[in-house]
Order: sequence, then structure tokens, then C-alpha cells
Amino acid sequence: MKIIAYGVRKDEEPYFKQWEAAHPEVEVKEVANLLDDSTIDDAKDFDGVVAFQQKPYTASILDKLSSFGVKALSLRNVGVDNVDADALNKNHIKLSNVPAYSPSAIAEFAVTEMMRLLRNTKRYEDKGRHGNLTWAPEIAEEMNQQTVGVYATGRIGRQVVKIVQGFGAKVIAYDPYPNPELKKEGIYVDTPAELYAKSDILTLHAPALKENDHMINDDTIAQMKPGIKIINCARGSLIDTDALIRGLDSGKIAGAALDVYEDEVGIFNVDFGSFDKIPDARLKNLMERDNVLVSPHIAFYTKVAVKNMVEISMTANANLIENGKSDVEVKI
Ligand code: COI
Repeated sequence: MKIIAYGVRKDEEPYFKQWEAAHPEVEVKEVANLLDDSTIDDAKDFDGVVAFQQKPYTASILDKLSSFGVKALSLRNVGVDNVDADALNKNHIKLSNVPAYSPSAIAEFAVTEMMRLLRNTKRYEDKGRHGNLTWAPEIAEEMNQQTVGVYATGRIGRQVVKIVQGFGAKVIAYDPYPNPELKKEGIYVDTPAELYAKSDILTLHAPALKENDHMINDDTIAQMKPGIKIINCARGSLIDTDALIRGLDSGKIAGAALDVYEDEVGIFNVDFGSFDKIPDARLKNLMERDNVLVSPHIAFYTKVAVKNMVEISMTANANLIENGKSDVEVKI
């Protein structure tokens, strides 16, 4: 059995080596390039492909993989929104993801960003760089006084609920499919509008489904509590960036933490050498604000998560090739 892994980073290499040592019967090739039309020929003669990227897995890529005899595509991440479903199914390529590499990695980061917004850390760091070590006027708010609204209570959202409850905050949540255990706690509100109206901090943990596209827009921002803080460690497409900027300009939104951005592909995880060279005016507008925290999709990026991403995706790929089944197979 032969598996090719695309987009392998230095920090992943030890985990690939560990997996290979435990599976000597599988021939593994690792390449640093991402999977696209220019690199796809490397997959000739392989039975499976393991990849990690935000670039699209297009029909042309999937048609070609199928013509090479590739039976399975295993993503080392959660999101499968960049896979062309029609082409995947037409070519009978099995797909898997890593649904839970570390819900804590994302949840802990989301809460970190909430705390940073509440304690105005960006403003203090900016002031400090200019030699200003004064307290005022950035007097902070305390987490235990907040109502935190959690949009979607999958694995990550549920972990956020737990952590934030530990701070003594009031937690409310909305999910079209409430979790039975959390339901017993009585934290669910009935509608997104109610969540928006009651939350001091709103944290998004919904997937990038079509119906969630730009769920945060002018209309939903109008329903929010004045002074709300919005955290997005989920998917960039959930927020209409122009509407967010309008909400920040008007003061309706008091702060935002964005670990994802709708135009992040080709921008995040790239070193442009200087702030001026970042080729996205809207993103720079956000980054320059002292009440907006922008990070380049790093919530997932922990040692535990990266190890799990490699191990789970490689095992899934081998299983899908060998017996057409894996507990992390995804049908789209
Ligand atoms: C995911 O697992 O889907 C993520 O958001 C990680 C990302 C860098 C691809």
C-alpha cells in the first residue's frame, strides 16, 4: 500500500516518522507542496492521499486522483468545505477528516481571546511600546460578570461552555441540534436572535455550511446587544467582514477576535516580510484597531493537535484503502 502526504510541515515530520515506524507495511511519501494542479502528478501510483490545506480540492484534482487509482483522500483537519462533493462521489473516492484532533486547542484559544479583549491587553502592549505604562483609561471588565453566548455546541462549543463556566460567567447557547446533556443545564435559548440580544461576548463554533455563510451580517449585528464582543475561531465565511467593520465603526461592536477571515486563503501562514506588504486592505484595517485581535488561524496549532491530525488521518487513509471503512469517514 502506498500513501502520499501533501503539505507536510517540519513540525509534522516527527509524527509522520512515528506512524511510519509503526506501519512498516505501508510505503509513505511526504511532500512539502500543497495538493493542486501543479503538484498532482506526484500522486501517480499511490493508493491514498493525505492532505492539509485550505486550497480547494477541485473537480480537476479529484478526477485526476481517480485516474491515478487513488481510492481515498484523508484530510488532516476538520473542515471538508473545500472538497468538491460531486466530483468526489462521481469518482468514488472515500473521504475522511479528523473530527476531533483537540477540541480543547480551539476552545482554550477562544477563551484566551475573550480574556484579552476584556483586559484590553492589546492596548496595554501598544502603550508599553511607546513607554506609556499607565493604567487608565483601559479599566477592564471581569469574565465572571459576562454573559457568554456560544453559537453551536459541538465538541468545541461544549468545551468552551465548560471553561467559561469555570470562570463563573453566565453561559447561554444556541444550536439547531441541542446537546442533550447541555439541555439539562438549561443553557439553550430558542433563537439566534435571542443569543445575539443577550450576549456580552458571542463566540462562534458553527461549521462552514452554506446556510451559515455570513450569518454575522448587518441584520444580525442590529439584533446584538450594544457593546458586544465577537470571537470567531471557527470559519471566516461566518462573518460578513464589511458588516463587522461597520459594526466596529459605529461602536455597536466593542471588540472582535478573529482567528479566521473570509479571505484568509493565500494570506494566513505566509510571511510577507512587513505589515505594509500584507495584500489585503480590509484585513489590515482590522489588524490596526486596538480593539480587534487578528491571528492567522492558529487556534488549532498545538503539539497535541498536530500529532493527532497526522496519526488519525494516516490511519484513516490506510483503513479506507485496505477495507473501504474508517470511523472518521465523511460522506458529503
Ligand atoms: C480545521 O481543522 O478545519 C482547521 O480549521 C484547521 C485549518 C488550519 C485547516
